[in-house]
Amino acid sequence: MTNFFLVVPFLILPYVPTGASAFHLGGSRTRRDDNCRYDLEYRHGNLCCVNCPAGTHLKSHCTRSGEKGKCQECDYGTYTEHGNELNQCFKCTQCRPDQEIVRPCTPTQDTQCQCRRGRFCVPDQACEVCKKCLRCEQGQEVVRNCTSTSDSECKKIQLSPGSSSANAAVIVPLVLILLLAAVIIVGGFFWWKKRRRTTDPEGDLHEGTKAGQHLTNNSPTEERAIGDTRRPSSSHWPLTEEPFPKLVPLKGEESLRKCFEYFEEIEFNYQKRFFRHLGINDNVIKSKDPLPYEDRIHELLNIWVEREGRDAALDDLLKALLDLNQRRTAETVKEKAIHNGHYRVCESL
Ligand SMILES: *[C@@H]1O[C@H](CO)[C@@H](O)[C@H](O)[C@H]1NC(C)=O
Repeated sequence: MTNFFLVVPFLILPYVPTGASAFHLGGSRTRRDDNCRYDLEYRHGNLCCVNCPAGTHLKSHCTRSGEKGKCQECDYGTYTEHGNELNQCFKCTQCRPDQEIVRPCTPTQDTQCQCRRGRFCVPDQACEVCKKCLRCEQGQEVVRNCTSTSDSECKKIQLSPGSSSANAAVIVPLVLILLLAAVIIVGGFFWWKKRRRTTDPEGDLHEGTKAGQHLTNNSPTEERAIGDTRRPSSSHWPLTEEPFPKLVPLKGEESLRKCFEYFEEIEFNYQKRFFRHLGINDNVIKSKDPLPYEDRIHELLNIWVEREGRDAALDDLLKALLDLNQRRTAETVKEKAIHNGHYRVCESL
């Protein structure tokens, strides 16, 4: 009967781990009491000795259950991270040459090492050697920097606007070069134009003589804008250019009208000035605006011929062109008129 009451608690005991001490029956336990408190005690013979704390190791076992034996602190360079029954502490890890110390060893914690800068080891993989980090090549940019536990990531630089500063390094000089080229071209053009104008005396000369008389009737500002950057001191013409010879029509007015098409050569910007110069009313010129360029010229020339009647002469039209600095157009018209047999040069000049 007494035996029964002794046995029952020990049947229950295994299922009540931490409450074991409550069932403590004096200093000794029976064989069936083989479950010491997990993580706190260890079995030594019949006894449950309490573990030595972290940072120490066991020197000698306990002599009574539930007690701690003799524990000794870990020597320098050794450690124990948890409670234990070890005869000696673990040796601290020595960081390899390709690693550096993150945290030095303490009695309760091992050394922490990591790969040196520029090398890495992937966690959860055996790290026998730190691998070298990938170096991004030219034309690539770093998407992710290398860390001690991950490789670097590179990406091809894309030349899309505003994607990265690397693009700016390419685009900015390019734009500057293009701007410079544009400045040189535009500057060169104006320089050339100016040079051409200053070395071409006929235009200014005429402007000073005949155009001046017409200015009173017409639009002075527009007329003047043509060629008076430099007004010559002398008003005699021509100084250097050959004078235009007097032209004689071979078939009277018909010859003149045959030459109308040559005036299609007149530069668009000078067309209105040309007709104003011939004394055609602004309103009349404007009324022909809707017509195509060539038709407009023919129409207005017809009007002029109607008005001048018998006096209408190709010479006057050429003179008007010369007055407007359009010598090249005048030469062209003259050449064509002679070449196509509408006019001949008057020898008696
Ligand atoms: C990488 O690191 C450098 C400096 O070490 C930093 O300037 C750069 O922004 C970092 N790049 C990324 C993608 O984190």
